[in-house]
Amino acid sequence: MLENLENLQRTHLCGELTASDAEKRVTVMGWVNKRRDLGGLIFIDLRDVNGLLQVVVRPEMKDVFAKAEKLRNEYVAAFTGTVALRDSQNINPNMATGEVEIIAEELVILNDSQPLPIQTSELAMADEDLRLEYRYLDLRRPALQKIILTRHKIIKSIRDFLCDEGFYEIETPILMKSTPEGARDYLVPSRVQPGKFYALPQSPQMFKQLLMIGGFDRYFQIARCFRDEDLRADRQPEFTQLDVEMSFATQEQIYDLLERMFATLFKEVLNLELELPFLRLTYQEAMERFGCDKPDLRFGLELCDLSQILKDSEFQVFRGALDQKGVVKAIAIPGGAAYSRKQQDQLVDLAKHNGGKGVAFAKVAENGLEAGISKFLSETETRKILEITDAKPGDLLAIVADSYNMSSKVLAAIRNEVAVWQNLIPENSYAFAWITDFPLFEYNEDEQRWEPAHHMFSLPREEHIPWLDQPEKYGQIIGQLYDLVCNGMELSSGSIRCHRFDLQKKIFDILGFSEEELQLRFGFFLEALKYGTPPHGGIAPGIDRLVMLMTGAQSIRDVIAFPKSLKAADLMSGAPSEISQLQWNELRLKPGESQS
Ligand code: AMO
Repeated sequence: MLENLENLQRTHLCGELTASDAEKRVTVMGWVNKRRDLGGLIFIDLRDVNGLLQVVVRPEMKDVFAKAEKLRNEYVAAFTGTVALRDSQNINPNMATGEVEIIAEELVILNDSQPLPIQTSELAMADEDLRLEYRYLDLRRPALQKIILTRHKIIKSIRDFLCDEGFYEIETPILMKSTPEGARDYLVPSRVQPGKFYALPQSPQMFKQLLMIGGFDRYFQIARCFRDEDLRADRQPEFTQLDVEMSFATQEQIYDLLERMFATLFKEVLNLELELPFLRLTYQEAMERFGCDKPDLRFGLELCDLSQILKDSEFQVFRGALDQKGVVKAIAIPGGAAYSRKQQDQLVDLAKHNGGKGVAFAKVAENGLEAGISKFLSETETRKILEITDAKPGDLLAIVADSYNMSSKVLAAIRNEVAVWQNLIPENSYAFAWITDFPLFEYNEDEQRWEPAHHMFSLPREEHIPWLDQPEKYGQIIGQLYDLVCNGMELSSGSIRCHRFDLQKKIFDILGFSEEELQLRFGFFLEALKYGTPPHGGIAPGIDRLVMLMTGAQSIRDVIAFPKSLKAADLMSGAPSEISQLQWNELRLKPGESQS
C-alpha cells in the first residue's frame, strides 16, 4: 500500500496557499491531521511545519478515493490537485488557509502510522514525562513548533546583528579542563589517558578571554554550556548562551551594543519597539526598593523600610529583629485588605518557604490601621507608616522583620506573588533594566571565605583597586559587573575583565586558592595574562531564558527541542544510562568505585 516519492515534487507548503492561488495545480505533502467522511466526500486536514490545509477527495476520483479511505491520523501523504475557493459558508476563519481547499487528483501514501501514544493536540496534552519520552511526537504540536521556530528566528536575528557589527563567530572546545566556575562540572573520562578527565564547559568564559588575548577583538558564539546543578523552571543542565566579548570596550559600549541588539531583535521577531536606553539600577537600589537583584519592574509594590519609624517599638517581633541589627520592611498591597485568612496564610507559607519566620499584617482602614499587628503600633508610628508606604484604605500592609537579606528575600517573593493575585502585571510588556555596581566579593558565612559575586575574572572599579590589598575593605569593593534583567528574570550577566596579571592573581589569592591549586587549575590562563592582554569585557545572555521571555513559555523545557527532565534525564533516549563492561574497562574505571 505504501508508495514512494519517485518523481513527485512538492510545489507548496500547506500553510502558504491563499485565495490568490485559486486554479493552480499544486502538490503538497504532510501528515493527516484529521480525516472526515461527510456526504460522500472525504476531507483531509493535511499538516506540515507551515500550517494546515484542507484537501477534498471526491468519489468520482475512484482510485484516489479508495486510497483516501485508508488514510488514518498521522499517515504521511502527498496530494496533487487544484486549489479551489471555498463557498462563502464553508470559509474557515480559524485556519490561515481557510478560504481555499485542494480538490485532490492524485494521492500518494508515503507512510503509515500506528495510533500515537500521545495526542498532538493542545487540548488533550499528556503528562510531561510521557511527552518527553515521545518528544518527536510532542514536537508535532503546533504551539511547540511555533516556539522552536521562533527560537530559530531569534538566533538568526542576533547572528545577523552581531556580524553586521563586526563580530566574529568562533567556536571553543567542549572537552576542556575542569576549572571551577561556580557550579559543579560535568566530567568526561579520558580513555587515552586513564584516570584523567575532561570537563564540559560551564561557559566559554576563559576561552573568550583567550580569544581577546589572541587578538580577535570582537567575538560571539551561540555556545552550549553545561552545569551540574539543581534544576528549576528556568534552569537546564545543558543550555545555550549568546557569549559575547569585546576588546578595548567600556561598560557603556557593552550596554549600547546589547540595547541596540535587543531593540533590533524585538522589532524583527515580535514587531515591538523597545524603549531605549534601558533603565539602570544599582545593585543596592534594586535590593532596597525591590528586595532582589532581578526585580520585575512591570509593577510597583516597592519595599519600604520601617526600621527607623519602629526604632523604639516594644513589639517583640520588631524589637527582636532590630536588636539583632536587622530591619523591618513592608509593602502595601493595593486591595489586599480584602484577603481571606487563607490568603494571608498562603503568604506566611511563602515566607517560610523562602527561609523566613513569617509575615505580619495590618489592614489600612479609613482612619488608620486595623487588625493584625495594628494594636502594637502607636499613633505616631501608624501615621508615619501610612505616610512612608503611601498606603490607601483597602490596602494590606505585609511587614517582615528579619535580617536585611532575609526580609528582602521574603518581601521580594511576596511582591511577585501578590502582583499576580492583584493582576498588576500588564500583558505583553517587557521591563528591561541594567543592574550595576555589584560587589566584587560575597562572604560565605558557612565556609568562612570570600566568593566571587559573579565570577573570578571581573575587574574592580578603578578607585577600588587599592582595596584588593585591604582585607577589611573586601566586602565594599564594587566590581565592573552588570546584569541585564527583564520581567523578573536574570537574562544576562557580564563584566569588564581583569586584564592585568597582578590584579587577577590578587583576586585568586583573596578567593583562597593555594599556589598549587592555582597552577593546577588556572596556570595556563594566568600565564596568558602576562603577554599583552588588551582591556576587554563581555556579557552572556541566556538564549533559553530569552526565548521563554519572547514566547511566553512557562517552562524552559518548552523552548528546547530535546530538553532534560527535572532529574536531568533524557526520557526519550534514556540518558544517562549504564555503560558496558567493555567501556568500564577501556576507561579503567570500576563501577561503584566513587562510593567507596
Ligand atoms: P552566568 O553564569 O551568569 O555568566 O550565565 C549567563 C546567563 O546564562 C543563563 N543561565 C542559564 N540558563 C539556563 N539554565 C541554566 N542552568 C543557566 N545558568 C545560566 C542566564 C544567565 O544570565 N561567563 C559568564 C558570562 C560573562 O561574564 O560574560 C556566565 O556564564 O540567563
